[in-house]
Amino acid sequence: MRVAPVIPVLVIDDLGHARETAEALVEGGLKVLEVTLRTPQALDAIKRMNLVPGAIVGAGTVTNPDQLKAAMDAGSEFIVSPGLTQRLGEAAIKAGVPFLPGIANSGDIMRGMDMGLTHFKFFPAMANGGIPALKALAAPFYQCKFCPTGGVSLQNAPDWLALDPVLCVGGSWVAPKGASPEEIAKLAREAAAL
Ligand code: 3PG
Repeated sequence: MRVAPVIPVLVIDDLGHARETAEALVEGGLKVLEVTLRTPQALDAIKRMNLVPGAIVGAGTVTNPDQLKAAMDAGSEFIVSPGLTQRLGEAAIKAGVPFLPGIANSGDIMRGMDMGLTHFKFFPAMANGGIPALKALAAPFYQCKFCPTGGVSLQNAPDWLALDPVLCVGGSWVAPKGASPEEIAKLAREAAAL
């Protein structure tokens, strides 16, 4: 969460573009790459992206222990989840892998803290009330840090990043569908400079 201000959230439709997308993002200064398990080629994309020097590749949209295992077998260095269940949380902690589960309310955070977790993805950030919601939610949980994701953009990211409990943001805007490696590298440079 402290490597770069933005974690790209990647949906890889075309495995043939996986490696060049990762290269462009790393070249632009975004080394931490979240590959969502939303396409059949996601696990292979993780393997290919892992070949890019400097890339720190993890899996997103991991929702259960089976997906956790598959993601780790593919070489994921971290795991992101849209939410937090006991089963997934316990499996991730047992596996010893950096784990960023999604939270949307106080109960979610308290369940995470019961498991010893303090770093969460605030998801979906804008639909859940945006900055006022996270400010209010973070206040009682002063020991927790957050990565807002969902509706975050180049335009609103500075406001999120200005909040003390926010270490980074997540977003798909840095690698839009159909963008060339040059375009992705440019978007990554802008994001890395936030
Ligand atoms: C996610 O997949 O974690 C988020 O939906 C990404 O949201 P965005 O597309 O609004 O950046």
